[in-house]
Amino acid sequence: MYINPILKSRNLGRMLEFSDTLSTPHIIIDPEMVKNEFRNLVSKFPRTKIFYAVKANPCPEILRLVARLGSNFDVASRYELDMLIGLGVEPERMFYGNTIKKAADIAYFYSKGVRTFASDCEDDLLKIARNAPGSKVYFRLLLEGAEATADWPLSRKFGCRAEVIQDLIVKAIDVGLDVFGLSFHVGSQQRDIEQWDLALRAVAEICKVSPVPIRLINMGGGLPAHYLHEAKPLSTYAAHINRYIEKYFPDPTTRPEIAMEPGRSLVADSGILVTEVVTVARKSVEAEIRWVYLDAGKFNGLIETLDESVKYVVKTEDEIKGTADPTEPRAEVILAGPTCDSMDVMYEDYKYTMPESLKSGERLYFLSTGAYTSSYASVAFNGFPPIQTYVLPQHFVARRLIK
Ligand SMILES: Cc1ncc(COP(=O)(O)O)c(C=O)c1O
Repeated sequence: MYINPILKSRNLGRMLEFSDTLSTPHIIIDPEMVKNEFRNLVSKFPRTKIFYAVKANPCPEILRLVARLGSNFDVASRYELDMLIGLGVEPERMFYGNTIKKAADIAYFYSKGVRTFASDCEDDLLKIARNAPGSKVYFRLLLEGAEATADWPLSRKFGCRAEVIQDLIVKAIDVGLDVFGLSFHVGSQQRDIEQWDLALRAVAEICKVSPVPIRLINMGGGLPAHYLHEAKPLSTYAAHINRYIEKYFPDPTTRPEIAMEPGRSLVADSGILVTEVVTVARKSVEAEIRWVYLDAGKFNGLIETLDESVKYVVKTEDEIKGTADPTEPRAEVILAGPTCDSMDVMYEDYKYTMPESLKSGERLYFLSTGAYTSSYASVAFNGFPPIQTYVLPQHFVARRLIK
């Protein structure tokens, strides 16, 4: 069993101390881990330009931090754009990376100075031509077959086949747009590194037949976080992906600029979602399995447990604080959320075990929950507010240093 990175963070104690002052549910972020992860990514992909995927966690402190570290941004909506502009991020550092966009939103991005747009169909391309004249466009390739090995697939809905991209390139030139590049996304938490090989090969084929030079390849996201089932380390991903880039684009003088849009891999591991056990119940007198209802569920932070796609490491208070009795008997549980909706069950097929003594009022800690948790929370389903994110404040970190 591998050790989740946050359990090794030098700020863990302070995070738990800070979390104890807050009511549940909440997410607490270790900013130092985000910083280290960003620097690690830059060092592993030295020739790749990073565009943080804001959707993974749009918390202003995180945006400010990665902006300060030099990140660019993959922006999905005018609301994300407004947040970035409010923080002083220059529009030249942004892609409007969503292929699904209204004409009015394209015009809004253009009015704010954004000049680079993703696209995957003629309807969208013509909207860009009309509302963001002369802008740079990159075309997203549909990746068929990448779904099976990604915990959170993204391929079916976005992108188009290579032959459609070839037509779009011609069309884009025709309507006065600047054909800039190609993009793909192998699926989030992609466990099969060969998917990048297949994607880069397909992209290289399009480059060969393009009537104009392709200047950008945007590899999207897909790099992993640390969930229950261990993924290969980032260094292994980087070694392979960098090799694929060199294989398909051997000449560095003509190689397109390479970009990536990490979300999950940058911020997930820095977060702990802290929840309280509301009720422990048995459905029959002889039932061995307990239902454990928490104050966080699918609608306030844990939506990626849909189909049990993402399986987080879950710790009790004693376990995370290192005071657990290893001989304490454990038994299987079903973990469910607090709403009056029967789909608000996180884990039923996969059986987590919890101590027999677990009771209401105790806290459970979901690790690696810094990505796609707060940003997916519903506004007020059943009246529950969206889960709040807290970034460990500097004075808590400073207290550790003084000690
Ligand atoms: C266009 C785009 N880029 C990047 C990302 C981030 O991907 P990941 O979180 O797997 O790094 C996403 C995720 O949805 C995306 O849609």
